[in-house]
Order: sequence, then structure tokens, then C-alpha cells
Amino acid sequence: MHQWSTSANGVPPVSHAFTWAGHKVLFHPGESIAAALIRSGQLDFGPALGGLRLRYFCGVGACQGCLVSVDGACPVEACLTPAQSGTHLSAAMPFAEVTRDE
Ligand code: FES
Repeated sequence: MHQWSTSANGVPPVSHAFTWAGHKVLFHPGESIAAALIRSGQLDFGPALGGLRLRYFCGVGACQGCLVSVDGACPVEACLTPAQSGTHLSAAMPFAEVTRDE
């Protein structure tokens, strides 16, 4: 069984980090990407089709509202994916913000 190392207040120390759109985001070992982003104040996960915005909603992988790209790969659910040190996260659908004249 994994043992957390804890600080004086009983909360595991935040000692790991990934980047979101170039900004460093700290996380606790075992924490999901979504939890780390939300705790850092990042509630908007980027554009989605139809002019919507991606964000945390269901927390169980059902809504696909929290999709993010990890190291430029295919989108994953941020609510289900453990954060990993040294990764670079970005919006899953940056192209969705592009508009075209018709
Ligand atoms: S919040 Fe619904 S799939 Fe992640």
C-alpha cells in the first residue's frame, strides 16, 4: 500500500508539476489532471466544437467535457488521468476556436 508523506498539517506535499499552456501546475502524487488544474484555478480546459468550452463536469469519464492533450497526443479525460511530472498539457481542440467566414 502506498504511504503518503505528509506535511505538518497532514496534507501531502505538492512536489510534482506539469505544464498547462506553458504554466507550471503543481500536483500531489496520484492526483488527477483535472483535480490539479481546478486546484490551480484553471477551470476552463479550452475550446470545444460548437463554441462551447471544455471543463470538468461529471468526474467519471462520461461527459467528455474535460478532454485535454498530454504531450500533444490524442485527448484524454482529465478527470480519469493521473497527473504525471514533466508532461506538457494543452487544450484538446485548439482548432475549435478557429472561425471561418462563409
Ligand atoms: S468531467 Fe466528464 S469526462 Fe471528465
